[in-house]
Amino acid sequence: MTIHSASYLISSPDYMKCPAADRPEYAFIGRSNVGKSSLINMLMNQQKLAKTSASPGKTQMINHFTINNEFYIVDLPGYGFAKVSQTSRRRWEQMIENYLRKRETLLHVFVLIDSRHNPQKLDIDFVNQLDKWQIPFSLVFTKSDKETQRVVSKNVKDFLAELLKTWQFLPAHVVTSALKKQGRDKILEMMQTMNNEFKLLQKK
Ligand code: GTP
Ligand code: MG
Repeated sequence: MTIHSASYLISSPDYMKCPAADRPEYAFIGRSNVGKSSLINMLMNQQKLAKTSASPGKTQMINHFTINNEFYIVDLPGYGFAKVSQTSRRRWEQMIENYLRKRETLLHVFVLIDSRHNPQKLDIDFVNQLDKWQIPFSLVFTKSDKETQRVVSKNVKDFLAELLKTWQFLPAHVVTSALKKQGRDKILEMMQTMNNEFKLLQKK
């Protein structure tokens, strides 16, 4: 897929205030600071499309971007930010659960996992929750440029092995680096395929 245009549309405090659900939509989610906004900028070839920050907790709302006048991508606030109060954590959980479960045109969720770390319980729990809610998703391992390939491969393998303890199938996964543009073609291709499927189903 070629990106012709990518622009910021709107930030919404909850799913009810999101733009009309009239086209395919893909959301990016994961721990605070894992690289969601950076990945979006890398995919769309625009360094300042989604706001990034060295300190966690930058993205707070549900942020819609219009791509190629054809589909939406959504930058979500991260989970697991230690400095967040219990109350705002609950608010986050409610906002995200509603958005993920009720947004009709949300075709797929990309769950970002930091490739520098061993499997983290918080990520495993989140992925299990998505599975329980029957929300289609893939895993995106980020920041691969920050570690040796050997460490990245081991962390990916260990994460998948952790899932296999309770699952019979594994989700698709992509290793990425926003810095080196690694994984870009694969993610764009996945979105292209799902856009096409969406069109096909609409014609029926
Ligand atoms: P929140 O919105 O706060 O949840 O964070 P986020 O997940 O959107 O992370 P963001 O894209 O803001 O990136 C966090 C930090 O990691 C920034 O300093 C980025 O420059 C850095 N970063 C993100 N992706 C990569 C990557 O692939 N490689 C390297 N080296 N740094 C990265
Ligand atoms: Mg962000």
